[in-house]
Amino acid sequence: MITAIFPAAGQGRRMKASINKVFLELCGKPILVHTLLAFSRCPVIDKLIVVVGKEEVAMVKAVLKVVPGLKPYEVVAGGAERQYSIYNGLACVSPDTDIVLVHDAARPLVSQAVIEGVAAEAARSGAAIAAIPVKNTIKVVDEANTVVSTPSRHTLWAVQTPQGFRRDILVQAYQKAQQDEFLGTDDSGLVERLGIPVKVVKGDYRNVKVTTPEDIFVAEAFLRAKVEETVKTLPSAISAAMAEVKDKFFKKR
Ligand code: CTP
Ligand code: MG
Repeated sequence: MITAIFPAAGQGRRMKASINKVFLELCGKPILVHTLLAFSRCPVIDKLIVVVGKEEVAMVKAVLKVVPGLKPYEVVAGGAERQYSIYNGLACVSPDTDIVLVHDAARPLVSQAVIEGVAAEAARSGAAIAAIPVKNTIKVVDEANTVVSTPSRHTLWAVQTPQGFRRDILVQAYQKAQQDEFLGTDDSGLVERLGIPVKVVKGDYRNVKVTTPEDIFVAEAFLRAKVEETVKTLPSAISAAMAEVKDKFFKKR
């Protein structure tokens, strides 16, 4: 069984909106709903755990009730840091779960291929993350804004979510982080501390994390392109069906 945890309990400070960014709408639907629907369309996913702010739980439950097509879900309260939010989500994962995927609610454009790729690799090797090769040269810079070094670009990958783990590995990683009072920036970081190898699965450049206001434009453009793709394939399917029917019709006459 595969359970996905969605941290959505942030403040969205960099978005500078009046509400938590995951409730902002893209093409008429809240970001959080796009994300949950993307996972719900994946046959391999069994259960969703949505982690939102304590004061948002009732509101999110009311909204999700009217969204058709969602996989079974639970809504739970998060914490002050992303890591604490996921820890709360992890506490609700049932023991019959083999693989846990963690996915930022703020990444609504994740594709089915990436979700399934991470889930499959996590099942195979225990720990897997989606990532993309960086396009820019990256510098290490010190406090005085002086370049310290230039790591070879071929070794650098920008990490995305989903990140997937065997449940026992992720639970152990979170317990150790809590014991050591270690605060990481992603789940893989906590698993790496156990000395467990983490595999990288090719992510997708479109799988953006909606973080600052300009990301809204980018995400909406990608979403519209997706919709246009569906609309484009539809008429050709209709004309193919028409051609077939028309042939039979003319033959008859
Ligand atoms: N998140 C969470 N609990 C927190 C902080 C973040 O569940 N205490 C979630 C966010 O809601 C988001 C994801 O983790 O879906 C990635 O975090 P980020 O993009 O940093 O979102 P925010 O923390 O909300 O944004 P900001 O850092 O700009 O305030
Ligand atoms: Mg944050």
